[in-house]
Amino acid sequence: MATSIRLGDVEVPRIGIGSNRLSYSDDHVSFIREVVDLGIRHIDSAYLYAGGDSERTIGAALSPVPDDVVVATKGGYGEGEGRPEVLRAQIDESLRRLGVDCIDLYYLHRVHGDTPVEDSMGAIKEAQEAGKVRHVGISEVGVDQVERARSVVDIVAVQNHYNLAERKWEAVVDYCEREGIVFVPYFPLRGDVPRALGEIAARHGATESQAALAWLLRRSPVMLPIPGTLNPTHAKENVAALEIELSEEEFAALQ
Ligand SMILES: NC(=O)c1ccc[n+]([C@@H]2O[C@H](COP(=O)([O-])OP(=O)(O)OC[C@H]3O[C@@H](n4cnc5c(N)ncnc54)[C@H](OP(=O)(O)O)[C@@H]3O)[C@@H](O)[C@H]2O)c1
Repeated sequence: MATSIRLGDVEVPRIGIGSNRLSYSDDHVSFIREVVDLGIRHIDSAYLYAGGDSERTIGAALSPVPDDVVVATKGGYGEGEGRPEVLRAQIDESLRRLGVDCIDLYYLHRVHGDTPVEDSMGAIKEAQEAGKVRHVGISEVGVDQVERARSVVDIVAVQNHYNLAERKWEAVVDYCEREGIVFVPYFPLRGDVPRALGEIAARHGATESQAALAWLLRRSPVMLPIPGTLNPTHAKENVAALEIELSEEEFAALQ
């Protein structure tokens, strides 16, 4: 199983980290540096996380972001925030908070009924052409919306709710695999887990969380989970899940 994947123009390990609970503190600045030391090369943030503190903390920890680390952020989460003028302002604010000239990967966080997806993606494409955004993604969307987005701008990543318990985006996972788009499952550790998980984890000398991540990694080669943690031991365990190879039978038992 491949343990790394090309995300935009950087090869990164197939386990990243989610940062929606990061607060702006010395401890959390140190934590972000520590996870990079552990080998994590993909950090997922958003304009709205912790009122902006997630982006600020990542900026304080890493600015300038090392070339081999991909920091992703998102904008346009709230109703009305997919409008081009709102997205433009959010992108400029994210650049300031992260302390960068260019955002490695920028997602439209949500598609809203009041703004066609093409209009939102158009604003992100403009930012890309202006050198403010390197690569583009979209979050919580079906195949039709990904295709509409791709008619405007190249999409390198789709980030949707997906885990052992939440499978409503199976068709999007398959589409991303066919099209060579990275699929980033958010909430990778949430939800009720199958009864077989504990026994399978024990067989590998792993925790249930590690086995759940191993299942995601086995589900598709384009899968790049971003488990959220503020615990260095958990971050280390999550990276170590890259070494767990589930057998065909184990994978099937968790279906
Ligand atoms: N695109 C979107 O709309 C969207 C929506 C929601 C979230 N997200 C992104 O997805 C990321 C992941 O979501 P999430 O953090 O809410 O949920 P998650 O990753 O499924 O689960 C996080 C929970 O699992 C625990 N955990 C992490 N690693 C563990 C381990 N090895 N062993 C035991 N427990 C572990 C964490 O606690 P500890 O801190 O104690 O480890 C935390 O309670 C977010 O951080 C965010 O970046 C995106």
